[in-house]
Amino acid sequence: MTLEQIAAPGSEWWRSAVIYQIYPRSFADASGDGIGDLPGITSRLDSLKELGVDAIWLSPFMTSPQRDAGYDVADYRDVDPLFGTLADFDEMLGQAHARGIRVIVDLVPNHSSDQHAWFQEALKAAPGSPERARYVFRDGKGPNGDLPPNNWESVFGGGMWERVTEADGTPGQWYLHIFDATQPDFDWTNEEVREEFRSILRFWLDRGVDGFRVDVAHGMVKEAGLPDYAPVADADSMGGGEENVPYWGQNGVHDIYRDWHEVMAEYDGDRALCGEAWLPTLKQTALWVRPDEMHQTFNFPYLMTPWDAAQLRSVIRESLDEFGRVGAPSTWVLSNHDVVRHASRLALTADNPQGEGIGPKSPGKPDAVIGLSRARAATALMLSLPGSAYLYQGEELGLPEAMEIPDEFRQDPTWFRTNGERYGRDGCRVPLPWTAAGQSFGFNDTGDSWLPQPDEWARFARDVEERDADSTLNLYKQLIVLRREHNLGSGSLVWEDAGDDTVAFRRGDIHVVANLGTEPVELGDGVTFLVQSEPFTGTALPPNTAAWFTKA
Ligand code: NOJ
Repeated sequence: MTLEQIAAPGSEWWRSAVIYQIYPRSFADASGDGIGDLPGITSRLDSLKELGVDAIWLSPFMTSPQRDAGYDVADYRDVDPLFGTLADFDEMLGQAHARGIRVIVDLVPNHSSDQHAWFQEALKAAPGSPERARYVFRDGKGPNGDLPPNNWESVFGGGMWERVTEADGTPGQWYLHIFDATQPDFDWTNEEVREEFRSILRFWLDRGVDGFRVDVAHGMVKEAGLPDYAPVADADSMGGGEENVPYWGQNGVHDIYRDWHEVMAEYDGDRALCGEAWLPTLKQTALWVRPDEMHQTFNFPYLMTPWDAAQLRSVIRESLDEFGRVGAPSTWVLSNHDVVRHASRLALTADNPQGEGIGPKSPGKPDAVIGLSRARAATALMLSLPGSAYLYQGEELGLPEAMEIPDEFRQDPTWFRTNGERYGRDGCRVPLPWTAAGQSFGFNDTGDSWLPQPDEWARFARDVEERDADSTLNLYKQLIVLRREHNLGSGSLVWEDAGDDTVAFRRGDIHVVANLGTEPVELGDGVTFLVQSEPFTGTALPPNTAAWFTKA
């Protein structure tokens, strides 16, 4: 079979799905301890059904000391008591499936928690032992091994190596951690690690999950010899800013995904792998979704594109070309739990690298009105594109970044490892407002919230927006219904010219135009609107607005 034949687009659900990211600790809190949980998610599934999403992706809820909000897993086969039990998970999964909503879980294979049994065994074992060989332990440099094995810098700030004390009390080897020191990296050249993760995949697949979002999918294999490497000053911290980085995008990762592809294929129901791969080019990103590898990968170049028509046209064109070349759908995403919410990010006036965050002292705070208009227009554009779209909880309410979180509440390790230089990601992780009245806006009924909710969030509460025909929530519902009705998740796109400051194309009979300029754009005669990202009368599309329409 030729590559073209293997890659011929099928009808698998993930090719065109709208997938909603749930950040469990901030979605809904049934226990009332201030941290969201699985029963909370189950209790709110009807609102996701009403929103119209095809699937949910849950950020990690597995056993974890929560040093990186669950991306530090101590037991991959159990639920952290903070979030409930395995029985709560099964209940949530069953209830989601009963509503026709698929469930994707987060898998964190690059590193474990330092509390994982394997790492604890490694600490007690001797250098060179099989227990140490599951992680990346090395002797230090210098006469007494006092210096780290190389000069790599952690994504969260500081060095990428931590020194251990050996069983006899002497200063010992160093271990590698791309992220926090409590997140030691596995050694993926070790077959035991590979076998363990095949088994973890099967554990969740047997429970009925529809797929995995694979954390740090571009970081699991490091260049042999671990050569020194210093990033350029403002390189994108999760990767993606530079080429040839010895810990990002190494060829060896592809063997792992080919192997996992086969594990997924053992199961029925088009189960899918979606890679979190921050890479410098779309050409490189497409390598993650060749026909025998992952099914999807996040389109981070699209997420990172500023509010600029030429750049947006170019990234859409390139995404469709590059993913199309390997027979994969493009994904589209504007927000997640690692970046400034797009209702704020799209109006930023100062540079804000990925993960930097916005806090009380940040320069160039975004204008809230412009930000929200742009966010609504950006989403209207995104949901008209062929491929699958990822939404992040709260964006359907138009939530902005929480920018005034007092220092004492901050929890992102980035904040601590950079001594407060980078605010980090807490601002996009604040618990959701469900009701304008009541404790913690209906997040729970005790009023506790692991991050403080801004007072003005009452106006973004779901119950308020449900009653307002022009709310962001109703816009999202309308877009998702129309997208499904007109089958916009699949098929092709024909570019149109509506001026330099616009992104304009046709999807079958439906014209889509977004105005990124500062002047209205006349759409001409015979226009019948299907949806406007912001209500307007007449046929002149205002700045920071998008519309779907047909033409007589
Ligand atoms: C990417 C996740 O999205 C992020 O939240 C986490 O901190 C790092 N990977 C480390 O697991």
